[in-house]
Amino acid sequence: MAQKLAAGNWKMNGTEASLAEIDAMIAAFPAPGCKVLICPPATLLDRLSTRAEGSAIATGAQDCHMNASGAHTGDISAEMIKDAGGTYVILGHSERRTDHGETDEIVNAKTMAATGAGLIAVVCVGETLEQRDAGETLDLVGTQLAGSIPEAVTGQNLVVAYEPVWAIGTGRIPTIEQIAEVHDFMRARLVERFGAEIGNAVSLLYGGSVKPSNASEIFAVANVDGALVGGASLKAADFGAIIDALQ
Ligand code: G3P
Repeated sequence: MAQKLAAGNWKMNGTEASLAEIDAMIAAFPAPGCKVLICPPATLLDRLSTRAEGSAIATGAQDCHMNASGAHTGDISAEMIKDAGGTYVILGHSERRTDHGETDEIVNAKTMAATGAGLIAVVCVGETLEQRDAGETLDLVGTQLAGSIPEAVTGQNLVVAYEPVWAIGTGRIPTIEQIAEVHDFMRARLVERFGAEIGNAVSLLYGGSVKPSNASEIFAVANVDGALVGGASLKAADFGAIIDALQ
């Protein structure tokens, strides 16, 4: 059985003042009935991890370099994320694929680096609106899964997030049937490639405009093991309501 996971991606948001949100979450969820993860910007990871130490809330980063160290100005490595207290890293988010030209091959190499360093990789896939309208969603998701995920993963160090690009930050979500179709497809592909033990243990998250008002119906979908939440993870009250819907 895959672990239930409520993950927050703060993206390029947050300063010292935002750390109060983590205090509120820790106080509200001393022992949540699901895994809770916050991925703040890299500048806050160390501080947020220190704040969350001893609590049920895990922390992670939003990207890492594929190399362990070296001349890569502006980048951080998987080892550095661990050093800052993180245990997860989001990889291949569509904003990085678009803003930084990340290909499936690059995401694959980063996933290798992350899992090799002992982090849990949250690999993101998802189609644009043009691709959905052209009926290419499953083909695209299948290609991204095959290309972005290396052979050497386990059910314990891989999470996959389905984030339709057109649903991110737009307030639009796919229909429940569309979410179910993609999640069933991803589960089948993972089981086919890695076997039932690993394939069924990978948590599959839905991401894109998840809010307290729609979380319950999304979490009721088979093979949805949680959510990767952007905007609604910035406030403890909203994210708390989403955790409540999952646990
Ligand atoms: O990674 C989370 C994400 O892209 C969804 O963002 O703001 O639509 O919840 P949002």
